[in-house]
Amino acid sequence: MNYSIALVPGDGIGPEVTGPAAEVLDAVGDKYGHVFNYVELMAGGKAIDACGEPLPPETLDAARQCDALLLGAVGGPQWEDLPGHLRPERALLGLRSGLEVFANLRPAVLLPQLRAACPLKDEALAVGHPEGKAAFDLLIVRELTGGLYFGKRGRIEESSNGHSPGAAFDTETYSWAEIERVLRSGYAAAAARWKKLCIVDKANVLESSRYWREVASVVSRDYPDIETSYMYVDNCAMQLVRAPGQFDVIVTSNLFGDILSDEASVLTGSIGMLPSASLGSPEAPLAKGGRPMGMYEPIHGSAPDIAGQDMANPLGTILSAAMMLRYSFALEREAREIEAAVNTVLDRGLRTRDIAGRGGGAGEKIIGTRAMGEAVVAAIGGL
Ligand code: IPM
Ligand code: MG
Repeated sequence: MNYSIALVPGDGIGPEVTGPAAEVLDAVGDKYGHVFNYVELMAGGKAIDACGEPLPPETLDAARQCDALLLGAVGGPQWEDLPGHLRPERALLGLRSGLEVFANLRPAVLLPQLRAACPLKDEALAVGHPEGKAAFDLLIVRELTGGLYFGKRGRIEESSNGHSPGAAFDTETYSWAEIERVLRSGYAAAAARWKKLCIVDKANVLESSRYWREVASVVSRDYPDIETSYMYVDNCAMQLVRAPGQFDVIVTSNLFGDILSDEASVLTGSIGMLPSASLGSPEAPLAKGGRPMGMYEPIHGSAPDIAGQDMANPLGTILSAAMMLRYSFALEREAREIEAAVNTVLDRGLRTRDIAGRGGGAGEKIIGTRAMGEAVVAAIGGL
């Protein structure tokens, strides 16, 4: 089969991590008889420099023609002083809303090879874990195209007589339909996992959170096998570092998901390891011909401090490519092949700098971005 992939390398370490991910995809393609055609597109800082805007309309149009999108990272210090609507990050928001990928799946798993990189003690990990193991494997499903990120915002100017000093506001608005569809994404994910879904909100204060619970009380009836629970976000932030093993799937709003997923990433050892999938339908979506789109990106940023130095960890992007195979193309066997190859290179002690020395250092070898990509390709047995 042929698949077309919109490739947005972006800024900073972006191109360094998307390159190896494409090579890994090609290796899997060679092995199983698939062809991936890449359509390279510009977004973020590079697009600002080239065309004066972070997300040129041609990029979005071209992305819509593809089967899925793989993105590295956008942003950098040289664009930080631009006004909000011209910042590189706008490209991400524009792609997410333009492609209508409302459910952002962010898995956080503690790999045994990186156990020492997790700052928690065995006791903390075992508390709440269904089998009392020092491990966790959770999935944050973050609503991605609504809430505070997309609500009405603005400035209230100073009064002309100078007596009232000005103000600024952002608003959190969620419709029933927006909440329902992301909840269904969460339930679909939980059905394939441990069948536990925790809705994280601030329902003791926010009206929008109380509305989430109202929607959940109706939607949850369709999933009698899945245990639904509710947790306030402040408590969840604490529970994640106290006993992460208690969580299976967390479903939450755009802003809370942004914050909690960074917190969860630290527990896995390095933000460089974590992939994400943003989907436009609760079940595995497929693009083209009206089929919903999927957008895949590592959860780390553009890391300008290490850009161009062959130091970045490409595994988050490589694992995002695996998620693309699973969710956009329904190629489960091929997705597992990539995940197994990543496991193999970690077993062999190969480490980029961010994950080095975390297992005590014995038997480890620090390698660069390119060598890590090549090691994964070699483990797949292609090229
Ligand atoms: C993320 C990032 C983005 C977000 C930024 C770069 C706009 O932090 O993907 O988590 O807040 O969504
Ligand atoms: Mg974030």
